[in-house]
Amino acid sequence: MNYLEQIDSNNIPQHVAIIMDGNGRWAKQQGMNRIFGHRNALTAIRESVEAANNIGTKAITFYAFSTENWKRPKFEVNALMRLLVRTLKKNLPEFQKNGIQVKAIGNLNRLPKRAQNTLNKIIEATKTNTTIIITFALSYGSREEIVNAVKNISEKIVNNELSIEDIDEKIINSHLYTVSLPEVDLVIRTSGEQRISNFLLWQIAYAEFHFTEVLWPDFRKNDFYKAVIEYQNRERRFGKTSEQIENLNE
Ligand code: FPP
Repeated sequence: MNYLEQIDSNNIPQHVAIIMDGNGRWAKQQGMNRIFGHRNALTAIRESVEAANNIGTKAITFYAFSTENWKRPKFEVNALMRLLVRTLKKNLPEFQKNGIQVKAIGNLNRLPKRAQNTLNKIIEATKTNTTIIITFALSYGSREEIVNAVKNISEKIVNNELSIEDIDEKIINSHLYTVSLPEVDLVIRTSGEQRISNFLLWQIAYAEFHFTEVLWPDFRKNDFYKAVIEYQNRERRFGKTSEQIENLNE
């Protein structure tokens, strides 16, 4: 089935966040090593960005490397970092041609210097692009992000730049890595796992979830559209009753 045709263009998720899972299992199925799975993940990233762009989604965020992923074997961590650097460099002309802005969230200081330098260059070079924002979560952990926000806010209080009464959701939002991104509307996780794994805990408060058995390297545009259809078929009530939502829509 072609899901694109069924999408309601008046109800497009503005920010889709994706937990890419299943690269290792996909590679194993092919009789290959895990790195082969990560390399083939790039096609799925490209397909998702194209699909998001086709329907008018303004931001897409990929969970590429968690704080916990540092515990993986060194050769896998190194391979992922090399893949990141190579992919970003190679795709810069395409980012520019298509108006793609690249961002990164996470404890980026922990990344190898080469990865930091490449990231900074790409972020700087694409910062005025406006078609779509691709954010890579790298060395990212949501609890760590919240701890940092609390520290930064506390420091401002100690320095009299902020008072305790000023702290509200807006202030907390503005101290998260995702400060300039729209609300997350839809979270997709592949490979059949149904967990959040320390991803955007604050930001997904009102998001819808789509879990699919598809392993990440197999994920294609039509899988993205299918997730959007499911999102559109749900009624987002934000705590209100169905009747209140219906009245609003009249
Ligand atoms: C999850 O599959 C995948 C990852 C932890 C890494 C994803 C990173 C990339 C695709 C490369 C980064 C490059 C760019 C350009 C951002 P898994 O290894 O956990 O699979 P498994 O659960 O089947 O073992």
